Amino acid sequence: EGGGGGAESYLFKVVIIGDSAVGKSNLLSRYSRDEFNPNSRATIGVEFQTQTLTIDGKEVKAQIWDTAGQERFRAVTSAYYRGAVGALLVYDITRSATFQSIDRWLQELNTHSDTSVARILVGNKCDLGEIRAVSVEDGKNLAESEGLFFMETSALDSTNVKTAFEIVIKEIY
Ligand code: GTP
Ligand code: MG
Repeated sequence: EGGGGGAESYLFKVVIIGDSAVGKSNLLSRYSRDEFNPNSRATIGVEFQTQTLTIDGKEVKAQIWDTAGQERFRAVTSAYYRGAVGALLVYDITRSATFQSIDRWLQELNTHSDTSVARILVGNKCDLGEIRAVSVEDGKNLAESEGLFFMETSALDSTNVKTAFEIVIKEIY
């Protein structure tokens, strides 16, 4: 297909959500710029990065949105989710409370977007396995019961970061 003409191109909006300090901004900077910031500040408002991928010979642009986990720093929620077709729900494997919050993030996502949004549950900071507080099994079970993809990642050492984003983007495509 495609004979003659312009390359088709797709633009997908993907949102990253989860409690403060789970590593949302570092996952995005690792994926989009291969950068990690050990002293990163809490996000205020909304930031986004656009990443171009080639899937099946087609150019796909993912516009990935990152917002504050802290309520007081968040921008307008409905605008953040508007038009999203993919979502990463992130917790920190060393803090159970961030895993327990996933229910609330899922509810918010369900309220502001439709059920066809491609979702992945992401247990970040897997480089800190020695102080793990959430088992891989618990992550898998939650993902299975909610119909989410699942992956443990490390923005610090890059484990599975590209894979986690690309599972969602390829599912959308
Ligand atoms: P908010 O913007 O407040 O919602 O936080 P956030 O989810 O964007 O977290 P952020 O990316 O700012 O990371 C919080 C802290 O965790 C920073 O000190 C990061 O350096 C650290 N961090 C992020 N990802 C990892 C990781 O994979 N491993 C380790 N060890 N630390 C990480
Ligand atoms: Mg942030």
